[in-house]
Amino acid sequence: MTIKDLFSNPTISKKVLIKGWVRTFRANRFISVNDGSCLQSLQCVVDFENTEQSILNKINTGASIEIEGTLVESQGKGQKIEVQTEQIKILGECDPDIYPIQPKKHSLEFLRENAHLRVRTNTFGAVFRVRSSISFAIHKYFKENGFVYVNTPIVTGSDAEGAGEMFKVTTLDLNKADVNDKNEIDFSKDFFGKETNLTVSGQLEAENMAMGLGKVYTFGPTFRAENSNTSRHLAEFWMIEPEMAFYDLNDNMDLAEDFIKKVLKYVISDCKEDLEFLNTRLINEDRTKPAIERNELNLIERLNFVVDNDFKRISYSEAYEILRNSKPNKKRKFKFPIDDWGVDLQSEHERYLVEKHFKKPVIIYNYPAKIKAFYMRMNEDGKTVKAMDILFPGIGEIVGGSQREERLDVLKSRIKDLGIDEKELWWYLDLRKFGTVEHSGFGLGLERLILFATGMSNIRDVIPFPRTPKNAEF
Ligand code: 4AD
Ligand code: MG
Repeated sequence: MTIKDLFSNPTISKKVLIKGWVRTFRANRFISVNDGSCLQSLQCVVDFENTEQSILNKINTGASIEIEGTLVESQGKGQKIEVQTEQIKILGECDPDIYPIQPKKHSLEFLRENAHLRVRTNTFGAVFRVRSSISFAIHKYFKENGFVYVNTPIVTGSDAEGAGEMFKVTTLDLNKADVNDKNEIDFSKDFFGKETNLTVSGQLEAENMAMGLGKVYTFGPTFRAENSNTSRHLAEFWMIEPEMAFYDLNDNMDLAEDFIKKVLKYVISDCKEDLEFLNTRLINEDRTKPAIERNELNLIERLNFVVDNDFKRISYSEAYEILRNSKPNKKRKFKFPIDDWGVDLQSEHERYLVEKHFKKPVIIYNYPAKIKAFYMRMNEDGKTVKAMDILFPGIGEIVGGSQREERLDVLKSRIKDLGIDEKELWWYLDLRKFGTVEHSGFGLGLERLILFATGMSNIRDVIPFPRTPKNAEF
């Protein structure tokens, strides 16, 4: 039996057999066993008169163990039920002198260095169960709303975002590779006969799939070689990218908002115990902070607030006016002051809008064309594009999306202006030749949503084995 099954359906006097890892062993009598199926550990009471000393000696934190016994009502406080052990088998010993995860509070930094073992703590067990629940809720939402799940390539020749922050994929020995007459490496000799990289987004391929399947979504790993050593950036992260034929920007924003709310709603009810634990953890952490940095709402209140309230929608120009006239801008407190219309919004500006001004999630739409990707649909003003970003409290940007440019001539001239080679995108342009339609989509960063749902503050703590600059351990 898993410990979760046992707690959810406890039958007193029933014989049980459980397997798990020892969390603690107190007074030579009480073993606390966790098997990962739920947050709670099961207390097992050792019949020490009938247990050999050699076995007792091996019941150490971290050891794997098999216990047969009888489920009884607990004599002690702190738990309703416990197991009266009859037979204990040590499956795998664990030397307490060298096992890094001791039964005490460890710092998140220390646990990151021991990412292979941190899943055996309450915090990381909870985080990764929530991650799993969110992933399931995402598939469930799309399934229930008529979307087709598609898989787009991981190795690709295209640079969807045009940002050039890509990891190269090659089988060439770069020390000995042939060069062409311009002294550039000759990738025609490479495995694919051209330059390839790990995908930064499945969007362009998803657009192709939507032009036949109607509503599609991708859910897969995404790679960015941006050297941003922040608590919000990973070099390898998971992105969900829905793409819908016949959707305009408003439909797109409606979908994104509904999607996030439904996913969070599912997780609130599916992960009650884990969220309660993470909530308490956060309340305790908050107590150690200066009053102004403390959260007004606790984790669960925050999640419910997002589910129950409309996101604020404003255009870039409105956001620009608010920021330009804001106190921190007038007092020159922003690192990047807001003077001229058209500047990109930095995370300090996003946080001001979301956390100080509106105090709720904000969707900003109609951004200046200059600061957005080539594929976004140009507005009539010739200056802005039908882009939208969703900004979340404590996180910043969680979703980036747009209505796509479906007009061949406009798209071609955008591509030309940005100096992108049209030939590379022939298949993308084909969509605009053969039955083009209005369409839209967005990308949600899975780890950023998990940050919000769990209240963790570093993105490295919500993916099992984080990939960041100078770090690819495990
Ligand atoms: O805003 P981005 O770059 O948008 C796209 O890639 C579009 N092609 C999506 C689309 O329209 N189909 O990225 C989308 C989201 C961001 O809002 C953020 O949540 C997440 O992906 N993201 C990252 N998450 C973790 N680490 C990084 N380095 C991230 N870069 C983007
Ligand atoms: Mg973006």
